[in-house]
Amino acid sequence: MAAHLYLQLVILTGLFPYIEGLPFSVRIVNGASNSSGRVEVFHAGEWGTVCDDRWERYEAVVVCRMLGYNYSTGQPIYQTTRYGSVTGPVWMRGVDCNGTEDSLADCSFDGWGQVELNCNYPATLFCYNVTGTDIHIRLSGDYRPHVGRVEVYYSGYWGTVCVDNYWDYRDAVVTCRMFGYSTGQQATHYYSKKDPVWMTGVNCNGTEDSLADCSFDGWGHGGYCSGYPAGVFCYNVTEQDIDIRLSGGTGPHVGRVEVYYCGYWGSVCGDNHWDMRDASVTCRMIGYSASRHMYYTTRYGSLTDPVWMTGVDCNGTEDSLADCSFDGWGKVGHCSIYPASVFCYNVTANSTIEVRLVDGAYNHTGRVEVYYSGYWGAVCSQKYNFDDKDAAVVCRMLHYSNGRALSRVSNVPNEPIWMENVRCNGTETSLADCPFDGWGNVGYCSYQPYVTCFNVAGNYRSL
Ligand SMILES: *[C@@H]1O[C@H](CO)[C@@H](O)[C@H](O)[C@H]1NC(C)=O
Ligand SMILES: *[C@@H]1O[C@H](CO)[C@@H](O)[C@H](O)[C@H]1NC(C)=O
Ligand SMILES: *[C@@H]1O[C@H](CO)[C@@H](O)[C@H](O)[C@H]1NC(C)=O
Ligand SMILES: *[C@@H]1O[C@H](CO)[C@@H](O)[C@H](O)[C@H]1NC(C)=O
Ligand SMILES: *[C@@H]1O[C@H](CO)[C@@H](O)[C@H](O)[C@H]1NC(C)=O
Ligand SMILES: *[C@@H]1O[C@H](CO)[C@@H](O)[C@H](O)[C@H]1NC(C)=O
Ligand SMILES: *[C@@H]1O[C@H](CO)[C@@H](O)[C@H](O)[C@H]1NC(C)=O
Ligand SMILES: *[C@@H]1O[C@H](CO)[C@@H](O)[C@H](O)[C@H]1NC(C)=O
Ligand SMILES: *[C@@H]1O[C@H](CO)[C@@H](O)[C@H](O)[C@H]1NC(C)=O
Ligand SMILES: *[C@@H]1O[C@H](CO)[C@@H](O)[C@H](O)[C@H]1NC(C)=O
Ligand SMILES: *[C@@H]1O[C@H](CO)[C@@H](O)[C@H](O)[C@H]1NC(C)=O
Repeated sequence: MAAHLYLQLVILTGLFPYIEGLPFSVRIVNGASNSSGRVEVFHAGEWGTVCDDRWERYEAVVVCRMLGYNYSTGQPIYQTTRYGSVTGPVWMRGVDCNGTEDSLADCSFDGWGQVELNCNYPATLFCYNVTGTDIHIRLSGDYRPHVGRVEVYYSGYWGTVCVDNYWDYRDAVVTCRMFGYSTGQQATHYYSKKDPVWMTGVNCNGTEDSLADCSFDGWGHGGYCSGYPAGVFCYNVTEQDIDIRLSGGTGPHVGRVEVYYCGYWGSVCGDNHWDMRDASVTCRMIGYSASRHMYYTTRYGSLTDPVWMTGVDCNGTEDSLADCSFDGWGKVGHCSIYPASVFCYNVTANSTIEVRLVDGAYNHTGRVEVYYSGYWGAVCSQKYNFDDKDAAVVCRMLHYSNGRALSRVSNVPNEPIWMENVRCNGTETSLADCPFDGWGNVGYCSYQPYVTCFNVAGNYRSL
C-alpha cells in the first residue's frame, strides 16, 4: 500500500526519482551462501526487485561493494530464475553504473517502480573478495579422469572457464599439460555451466605453462558467457600405428569413420571437406574397392571425443588417411557435429541389376530401389527429373507393361544411394542402360521417385 501511494506520488507529481533521505538498501536472497543470489532493494518501505535488463558487471560490482566486498569483485549471473523469480515491486530497471558509485541508487536507471513493463528475470549476482593469486584447476563432469569440464579455483571458489569463440585445442593443450598430460584437445561434450565464471576469452598460444598466463578477459571480468563451460580431452602422445573402423552402421562396411590413435578411438570431421576421394581412401584401407561418401549426417552417430582429424583432403591415391593432408592429429579445426561417414562396397564385375518398389500400399506402387554390387540402394530424384519414361523402364523390369512417376517423396534414404539424374528415353530394357550420373555418384539426396506400374489393355499379362 505504501509503495502504491508512493508510486502515485511519483507519477502525479513527476518527482525526480531519487528522493533524498528515503532509506535504501540492498540484500542478496536465496543463494546457497551470502555471496550469490537474487538482488533485492529496499525502497519506500518495501523490498522489491531489480530487473536484469542492462544488468552487467559494473552493476554487480556496486552491489557487492555495498555489501562489504572488495572493490571490483562482483559478477552478474545472467537471465536466471535459479534464485527465485521477480518478487515484490520491480523497483529498478535499466540500471547502468560505471562501477565507482557507492550505492546502486547513485547509478542511472529508469526511475523508481516503472511497473508497467514486464520484467522476465531479476538481477542476480555473485560477490567475492579477491584473496591472493592461488590458481588451481580440476576436471569434473565426466566419468573419465582425463576428460571433462575445466574448473578453475580462484579467490576461494571453483568456477567455470567459458567456451567462447576462442576456446580451441591450444587452450586445451595448456590445460592438459597442467594435469601432466603431454597434450589435449577441446572436448565437444556439453557440460552444464557453474557459477562463478572465472575466465572468458581465453586465448593461449599453446606454449604457456598455465592458463593464467594466457590472454583472457581478466579474472571474473568477462561478459556474458552464452556458451558452455570449456571442456578438454587430455592424452599422452604415444608411438602407435593408426587403425580404422566404421561404426554405427548396419555392418562393418558402413558407418561413421573412427580412427585409433594414441590409445583412443576417435572421430574424423565430416564437414564439407569430406568428399569421395577421402571416402575411397578410407574404404580401400578396410579392404573395399569402392565407396560412397556422406556428409552432414548423424545417422551413424554424432561426432564424439576425441576428434582426431579435421580438414582431411586426400587426392584419392593415398594408401592411408594418415597420408592425406589434414589439420594435424588432434588439432581440431572447424568442425560441426557431423562425423565423416562412408558406405564401402566391392564392385562386382558381373552384377545383375534388379529393381523393386518399396513402401507402397500395393505391390505395384512405391519408391524405386535398385540392386547393384550386392546391395539394394536408393534411386534419387533430387534433380526432380525422374519422369514417366524412367518409370516405364522400371515397370517393364517388373513385368508390367507401363508405369508413371507420381510426385516424388521427401525421404533421406538409407545408404547406399545408387542412382541420380536418371534420363531414360523409355525404350531401354534396364534402368542401367539409361544415362545417369554413375553408380553411387550421388551427393545429398532428400527426394526419391515414387512410381506406379500398370498393365494397359491389349497388353495384359496375368500376374
Ligand atoms: C549471511 O548473512 C547473514 C546476515 O548478515 C548472517 O546471519 C549469516 O550467517 C550469513 N550466512 C553465511 C553463510 O555467511
Ligand atoms: C570481504 O572483505 C571485506 C573487507 O576486506 C571483509 O569485511 C568481508 O568480511 C569479506 N567478506 C568475505 C565473505 O570474505
Ligand atoms: C560514475 O558515476 C558517478 C555517479 O553518476 C559520477 O559521479 C562519476 O563521475 C562517474 N565516473 C566515471 C569515471 O564516469
Ligand atoms: C579483499 O578482502 C580479503 C579478505 O576477505 C583480503 O584478504 C584482500 O586483501 C582484500 N583485497 C583487496 C584488494 O582489498
Ligand atoms: C601421461 O604421461 C604422464 C607423464 O609421463 C603420466 O604421468 C601419466 O600417467 C600418463 N597418462 C596416461 C593416461 O597414460
Ligand atoms: C606465447 O605466449 C607466452 C605468454 O604470453 C609468450 O611468452 C610467448 O612468447 C608466446 N609464444 C608465441 C610463439 O607467441
Ligand atoms: C571386397 O573385396 C576384397 C578384396 O577382393 C575382399 O577381401 C573382401 O572380402 C570383399 N568384401 C566383401 C564384403 O565382399
Ligand atoms: C597424392 O598424394 C600423395 C601423398 O601426399 C602423393 O604422394 C601423390 O603424389 C599425390 N598424387 C597426386 C596425383 O597428386
Ligand atoms: C553373370 O551373372 C549371371 C546372373 O547371375 C549368370 O547367369 C552368369 O553366368 C554370370 N556370368 C559370369 C561370367 O559370371
Ligand atoms: C505382393 O508381393 C508379395 C511378395 O512378392 C506377394 O506375396 C503378394 O501376393 C503380392 N500381392 C499382390 C496383390 O500381388
Ligand atoms: C533410347 O536409348 C537407347 C539406349 O541408350 C538407344 O539405344 C535408343 O536408340 C534410344 N532410342 C531413342 C528413340 O532415342
